Amino acid sequence: MTYRGWSDTANLSVVGLQWGDEGKGKIVDYLASGYDAVARFNGGSNAGHTVVIGTKKYTFHLVPSGALKGKQLLIGAGVAADPEVLAEELALLPEEARSRLLVDSRCTLVTPVDKDFDAMLEGARGTAALGTTKRGIGPSYALRALRLSPRAGDLAAGFDFAPLASFYKALSLDPARLAAWAASSHELLGRLTGDVAGRIESIADAGGSVLYEGSQGTLLDLLHGSYPYVTSTHTTASYIPAALGIPPKLAGKALGVMKCYATRVGSGPFPSEIAGESAERLRTLGNEYGATTGRPRRVGWLDLVSLKYTIRLNGVEEVAVTKLDVLSRMDDVKVCVAYKLNGSETTDFQSAMGALDQAQPVLDTPLSLRGADFEHGLPAEGKRLVSYIEDQLGVRVRFMSHGEERSKTIEL
Ligand code: IMP
Ligand code: MG
Repeated sequence: MTYRGWSDTANLSVVGLQWGDEGKGKIVDYLASGYDAVARFNGGSNAGHTVVIGTKKYTFHLVPSGALKGKQLLIGAGVAADPEVLAEELALLPEEARSRLLVDSRCTLVTPVDKDFDAMLEGARGTAALGTTKRGIGPSYALRALRLSPRAGDLAAGFDFAPLASFYKALSLDPARLAAWAASSHELLGRLTGDVAGRIESIADAGGSVLYEGSQGTLLDLLHGSYPYVTSTHTTASYIPAALGIPPKLAGKALGVMKCYATRVGSGPFPSEIAGESAERLRTLGNEYGATTGRPRRVGWLDLVSLKYTIRLNGVEEVAVTKLDVLSRMDDVKVCVAYKLNGSETTDFQSAMGALDQAQPVLDTPLSLRGADFEHGLPAEGKRLVSYIEDQLGVRVRFMSHGEERSKTIEL
């Protein structure tokens, strides 16, 4: 007998190593051809995954990014699913996509009142608001923990909304819309719900493979991110088996996705953030506006300190580096290699986390990408960047993305 370790699967997860919006949607779409199914395991319609094919641009919030590759589409139990968003996205896809979609019956549902709840909580925080997407994701997971929220499979059995309604009322939120929402959600979900965990296991039994699509980024993880400025779910690769209800051995390896600079949408510390003209230019060139809310994203330089932390947390050995075309149009490229904090320098993100808002970036200018042309393979500037990232982070760069379009991907 040959001992194969804990992972004996070809399954792969794609996770974000920064604050979300690393370009996971594009990488998932690119990789999806090699898998039988694409599964979402976390988050909900707070996510915005952009996929560009030719001149057509698609933004998915809930449906997995493999939607345009004819793959099985799985929405696992760990997702906070908003049936209204699901209906909207299905309407944008060809009719046959419906038959490829399976929503786990254990999924937490987001009700319309959860969105009011989200807005109310943000209002109550005043100037310390988190800058949530107001999609009701936090309230929906919180109500799940309180055992009040309906799951996707509960509507069929005639879910008792009385406890949830009185909870909403106690907060002066109006539950009047729940009945109509439950009826239309049931009609939609009735045909889509099933056992996602069982489906993944059957795919594995038949020798197939699944691609797991992460949402948000590791630094937004509820437990391990920059709390309280985080999302309300887990965003690390280690969450995948728990979220989907599959054995850890089916989780597979994790591919980390990192943009070659940094962005953050919403509030919270961001040590390598920049302001002024360079920031404006980076935002414009990178089209750094939230895919879900349209908000201008905060921008900054690549932050190696936080990346070392997120790479370790996810057990990532290989990465995809995105948006190289953007840096090739910037005059200067800087990289944050350490933080100055309390009079000394540190590269330990974990220990800096409590005082991240006071951390000053120590910047390096290792290379320029000015004018680099990625259209005919990896240019010399690109090769230097690959070596720099591999040396600094101890990972292998597997993919370089130099444009939104599917074909603008270099495999190394
Ligand atoms: P929530 O997830 O809507 O509760 O928002 C909490 C924080 O996570 C806010 O800073 C959001 O901007 C951020 N966030 C949530 N989803 C995404 C995403 O998909 N990309 C980037 N930031 C996100
Ligand atoms: Mg996004």
